[in-house]
Amino acid sequence: MKNNKITLACVGLVGLAVSGIAGAVDARARFMAANCSYCHGPDGKSHGAIPSLAGLEPGYFVKQMKAFQDGSRPATVMKKHANGYTDAEFEAMAKYFAAIK
Ligand code: HEC
Repeated sequence: MKNNKITLACVGLVGLAVSGIAGAVDARARFMAANCSYCHGPDGKSHGAIPSLAGLEPGYFVKQMKAFQDGSRPATVMKKHANGYTDAEFEAMAKYFAAIK
């Protein structure tokens, strides 16, 4: 658990460093989004099997996060991530990712 926190903090810092383009957006949303970059790619642009988050329609994004949270969308890891955030935080992240081109 302790290590897990440290890893997340490091991922967060790297994410912040690479997401300098997003100067205009809510700093808190950017900080939360940095926690996703390890798997979903810097700025939500994935180059692997995990889906990209950049440019997702905000309504879709929020719906998926809630579905992960309540278990109606099956997930390997996303249920754990979704559980850590409130609805307002989903909205903020949805806006952040939707704005990335
Ligand atoms: C440990 C790797 C990992 C991290 C960290 C992670 N995700 Fe995911 N994400 C996945 C995987 C894998 C999937 C596919 C569903 C599943 O198996 O859980 C996914 C799916 C998603 C989807 C659905 C995308 C679509 O096109 O339907 C959304 C939205 C999403 N993640 C958002 C996030 C957000 C927001 C964060 C940060 C708070 C985050 N993820 C952090 C691995 C991760």
